[in-house]
Amino acid sequence: MKILIINGPNLNALHLRDKSQYGTLSLKEIEEKIASSFPEIEFEFFQSSGEGEIIDKIIVSTGKADALIINPAAYSHTSFAIRDALEIFRGPKIEVHLSNIFGREDFRHTSVTAAACTGMICGLKEFSYIAAVYSVKKLIGNE
Ligand code: DQA
Repeated sequence: MKILIINGPNLNALHLRDKSQYGTLSLKEIEEKIASSFPEIEFEFFQSSGEGEIIDKIIVSTGKADALIINPAAYSHTSFAIRDALEIFRGPKIEVHLSNIFGREDFRHTSVTAAACTGMICGLKEFSYIAAVYSVKKLIGNE
C-alpha cells in the first residue's frame, strides 16, 4: 500500500510557528514519526507552498498512490482549485489539520477542500496524521 502525504504552505516552517496550535515537531520530524509508526506502509511525502504544484501532484498521483492524506494549510479555506483536483483523485482521501480549525479565527472554520475528501481529522497536532493513516488502512481493508 502506498500513501501520498501532501503538506501545503508554511508547514515547512512549523519550527517557526505557534507551538500551542501546531505542536513542537518540525515537518521532517512528523514525517519520520509517521514512517516509523507504520513500517509496513510505503509513504511518499510532498510539501509545496504553491497551489499549482499541489494540484499537479494530486493529479499525477491518481492511480499511482492508493490513498491521499493532505494538509492543504491555508488553501483549505480558499482553494476551489485544490478541491476540484481532490475530486479527481481515486482512493480514500483524508484532510488533516494539526490545530483545531473550529476553535480558531472565523475564517478557519470553513474548509472548502474537506468536502471533496472522505473525511477530516483536526486538532490532534501530529497525531492527526497518525489517526489519518489508521483510517486509511481501515478504509482500504488492509488493517
Ligand atoms: C493548518 C490550519 C490552517 O488554518 C493554517 O492556515 C495552517 C495550518 C493546521 O494544520 O492546523 O497553515 O492547516
